[in-house]
Amino acid sequence: AQRSANLTVEADRGNQIIPKEIYGQFAEHLGTCIYGGLWVGEDSPIPNIQGYRTDVFNALKELRVPVLRWPGGCFADEYHWMDGIGPREQRPKMVNNNWGGTIEDNSFGTHEFLNLCEMLGCEPYVSGNVGSGTVEELAKWVEYMTSEGDSPMARLRRQNGRDKAWKVKYLGVGNESWGCGGSMRPEYYADLYRRYSTYCRNYDGNRLFKIASGASDYDYNWTDVLMNRVGGWMQGLSLHYYTVAGWSGSKGSATQFTDEDYYWALGKCREVEDVIRRHCAIMDKYDPKKQIALMLDEWGTWWDEEPGTIRGHLYQQNSLRDAFVASLSLDIFHKYTDRLKMANIAQVVNVLQSMILTKDDRMVLTPTYYVFKMYRVHQDATYLPLELDCATVDVRDGRRLPLLSATASRDKEGRVHLSLSNVDLNEAQEVTVRLSGITARKAVGEVLTAEHVTDCNTFDQPDRVRPVPFKDTKIEKGVLRLTLPAKSIVTLELQ
Ligand code: AHR
Repeated sequence: AQRSANLTVEADRGNQIIPKEIYGQFAEHLGTCIYGGLWVGEDSPIPNIQGYRTDVFNALKELRVPVLRWPGGCFADEYHWMDGIGPREQRPKMVNNNWGGTIEDNSFGTHEFLNLCEMLGCEPYVSGNVGSGTVEELAKWVEYMTSEGDSPMARLRRQNGRDKAWKVKYLGVGNESWGCGGSMRPEYYADLYRRYSTYCRNYDGNRLFKIASGASDYDYNWTDVLMNRVGGWMQGLSLHYYTVAGWSGSKGSATQFTDEDYYWALGKCREVEDVIRRHCAIMDKYDPKKQIALMLDEWGTWWDEEPGTIRGHLYQQNSLRDAFVASLSLDIFHKYTDRLKMANIAQVVNVLQSMILTKDDRMVLTPTYYVFKMYRVHQDATYLPLELDCATVDVRDGRRLPLLSATASRDKEGRVHLSLSNVDLNEAQEVTVRLSGITARKAVGEVLTAEHVTDCNTFDQPDRVRPVPFKDTKIEKGVLRLTLPAKSIVTLELQ
């Protein structure tokens, strides 16, 4: 059986850039994200570049990661950065209270993180400790990282082997301050934000982009209070939204789920659009010129931990369903980039909806990784408004899910890219795309699909879900026709 859908793309229109930071990543000291995932240390038998896993590093380089958030998450508000500098063998150990009580030896600290960002060519996004740290501690961290002068912290940095200051643009002033970051009321946090951020200075050529800890999901009051009381003291306000069944009880298996569960997850993932819209409407009320950015600095799927893994490490598998959550979410994010300037999927390696899974010296790239790779063409490109007409399906919880999702952009060289997701598990879709403002003769690209939507890449079968060339396209008289297989994600370049 086959469905049909219509799409209109005006390739010479569009006035909004999709900031590359929409493709941001997040690395927390949680489970094996840092230790074993990104970092193994120079003496490890696992091949590494100055302590960073070579396989993971190369895979991330390929992804063109634009920005990396660190060290948390909840971990950030218990992290004391001074424990993570100086000779590694002398760094004190701590208990990672948020995440399974694991012993954290601080061998991955400020230098290891900022050097990694330099090597990857991405912007660092440092999350500061407001919940359990002092104003002085955060102020000194900024000085340590960014001061070029003969200041006490710059001298300490030099003693620790780094002469030149790093460039640090994004600074989070606390994380989830309503919860693990201090259980605060928004009114109280607003004042604390103003106090902490006052002493986060712009040293030498470095200009901080300060981000206030924002709401989770449907907490519109938090955004209202912050916009009202903090306003121009912040450059960005964060928001967290997870595709999750709830915060108590089972969140469901990452790989064993029914068709109904699958459609539910996509409905829940798409609800982020309404959540973004409503937070944006509040921001518009206080900031009609859109000078303060919305930063969705945590998003993605949250399933039950894989059986047999350590509780509190949030290690989960990643199936074709997760790939759809990625593509549908990115399609939505593109639309709101007049206000939404960053999004950081949680998390980069071995935690929640990760790009990469590792086990000892082995690595697999997840279906979500491949979506990010196929979609990297949209980074910093001009967003092209689309008109889309397709069938829908009613899903559990009363949501209605369109069976096709799409996004298009024009890059700096004038190339137009179109991404399409056929969400339907059983039926192919014949898509008719009316093109204007471009004379394209062919469309070439890749398709990501699998035999079953529950399929994932494992250490024994690492290539079960991976993109292959997609050729089923035809352009005639400004109309592109293609047939999307059931449950498939395609990205095309119009040539
Ligand atoms: O990403 C896992 C956790 O989710 C983060 O540490 C926290 O900010 C959020 O609750």
